[in-house]
Amino acid sequence: MRRKLVAGNWKMNGSADSSRELLQGILGGAAEVAAVELAVFPPFVYLGLVEQALSGTAIVWGTQNLSEHASGAHTGEVAGPMLKDFHCTYVIVGHSERRTLYGESDEVVARKYAAARKFGLKPILCVGETLEEREQEVTEAVVERQLKAVLDLEGIASFADAVIAYEPVWAIGTGRTATPEQAQEVHAFIRARLAAHDAALANQVRILYGGSVKGSNAAELLVMPDIDGGLVGGASLDAKDFLAIAKAGC
Ligand code: 13P
Repeated sequence: MRRKLVAGNWKMNGSADSSRELLQGILGGAAEVAAVELAVFPPFVYLGLVEQALSGTAIVWGTQNLSEHASGAHTGEVAGPMLKDFHCTYVIVGHSERRTLYGESDEVVARKYAAARKFGLKPILCVGETLEEREQEVTEAVVERQLKAVLDLEGIASFADAVIAYEPVWAIGTGRTATPEQAQEVHAFIRARLAAHDAALANQVRILYGGSVKGSNAAELLVMPDIDGGLVGGASLDAKDFLAIAKAGC
């Protein structure tokens, strides 16, 4: 059985005060959704306060990005060992906003995935097609290419400690969710690609769906056989909404 994971990607939102308030709200309802693993992904600068609020609780945390390098002259970057200092469990790599707004190629994403693993962090590897790619019916080819870059560099065994998030770019922040069937189809495709390398391992890997997940649509998505949780943007900034999504996964 794959335990569901509901992960809140806060993106570049909030303040110290609002982050503390959000965490208190989530902690207040966490016991009721204990069947689901909860994780939050604050901006780097709030990592300390997140660690302080969540240490000793069942909720884990991580960041939205990391450097592919271990240290050195990389102004503005944050390295894996620094994230370990703050006891991060996960790190998101290859989010579509990193790929499209900051030019991260499949190869850069694969190197970040490798860096995460090297420093003891579990990568959440994001994949997904743009609207144009979906309309051209190349969704599977795009997702396969994004996966292949990581498989080529780190191998199938690396997925034992990794999570995949399928986030169709056209569904992110648009209010336009993929239908459960559309999402399931791609999730099953991803699992089949992994299974071609190692069937037993593929069956254990959690594949999250991301893109306009809310309390009102989470249940129909999370009930699908290959959807193992959600990577939530906007709705993760509201404790009630975030908990409602987790509740749907229980
Ligand atoms: P929204 O839930 O705001 O659509 O964002 C999804 C996302 O990008 C999570 O990483």
